Amino acid sequence: MTVAVRMPARKKARNPPDAADLLAWYDRHARVLPWRARPGERPDPYRVWLSEIMLQQTTVKTVAPYYARFLERWPIVQALAAASLDDVLRAWAGLGYYTRARNLHACAQTVVARHGGIFPHDPAALRALPGIGDYTAAAVAAIAFDAPAVPVDGNVERVVTRLYAIEDELPAAKPLIKDRATALLPPERTGDFAQSLMDLGATLCSPKRPACALCPWSGACVAQARGEQENFPRKTPKREGRLRRGAAFVALRADGCVLLRQRPDKGLLAKMTEVPGSDWTHDFDSAQARKSAPRVHAGIKWHRLPGVVNHVFTHFPLELTVFLAHVPRGTRAPKGARWVKRGTLAGEALPTVMRKVLAHALPEP
Ligand code: ADE
Repeated sequence: MTVAVRMPARKKARNPPDAADLLAWYDRHARVLPWRARPGERPDPYRVWLSEIMLQQTTVKTVAPYYARFLERWPIVQALAAASLDDVLRAWAGLGYYTRARNLHACAQTVVARHGGIFPHDPAALRALPGIGDYTAAAVAAIAFDAPAVPVDGNVERVVTRLYAIEDELPAAKPLIKDRATALLPPERTGDFAQSLMDLGATLCSPKRPACALCPWSGACVAQARGEQENFPRKTPKREGRLRRGAAFVALRADGCVLLRQRPDKGLLAKMTEVPGSDWTHDFDSAQARKSAPRVHAGIKWHRLPGVVNHVFTHFPLELTVFLAHVPRGTRAPKGARWVKRGTLAGEALPTVMRKVLAHALPEP
């Protein structure tokens, strides 16, 4: 006698995902973004590249005003290549990850010097330019030139790992995700396909409570069929960088100037502007902090401000104790530093952490 064993019903995703369904959804729901060509418009590779560099590690909302300002000031790649690095860094200040600004400038110069001002079409040739990694090369190739390439960032990883319920953990799963995404490429409109994946990941296929009911791929999504969509992608837990601490010294002169200096040419935030400060270390001793104060004048009194400034860099969190001193009009700047009017601080290449320090020490009147 045969005994029928009933297996627990496991809902299966029915049909394989089809790029055409996603493109049809995109045609109706594409986000309107300043760097995005309208239907029928030809994308400008310079604009596509500029936006992709800015969008590395930065949100659409933060990027939009920077993108507009850059384009107004440097509307073509030749103009950006001819700009000074200092001007580019100043215009970039606040966007973070300043190596991107240095590479942006170097890339513009390379495109002009070696490619006659024309961005290459091929992802491998794009990848050889300063500041362009796998993601940006694929994004520019697809969006600007409709090349058969898929840019895979965190949003796209989420979409693809859910679609196929990929059990491998990130970051090891990256090559598999890239293969799966590439296999989905349509024969044409690869630029729209790339952007539709980005939009799906940014709008419906969110990390928490994704809007599966509205998703053009819900019928194909294995994770959704199992009711497990929020559990993808699987991730190997990250080790956070160890906390570093340090001191920052804000000297305010009676004429309303603040003492600033330039950071060293190499290393974190190279060549950016800062208020004088100590090194940032794991074993920083706040009792000894005043020893790193700049030598402004003999009787200077540094007041330790209540609270601290916290900032998170890619590799470590930072906690800064802030000291403030008022100095008389006419006080000279020590070697390597300069006085800058408070009203012109916005035009300085001050990284976000330094803007936080200044806001902590000198709240708006
Ligand atoms: N993130 C990275 N590139 C993007 C783009 N072109 N549009 C929207 N978000 C993005």
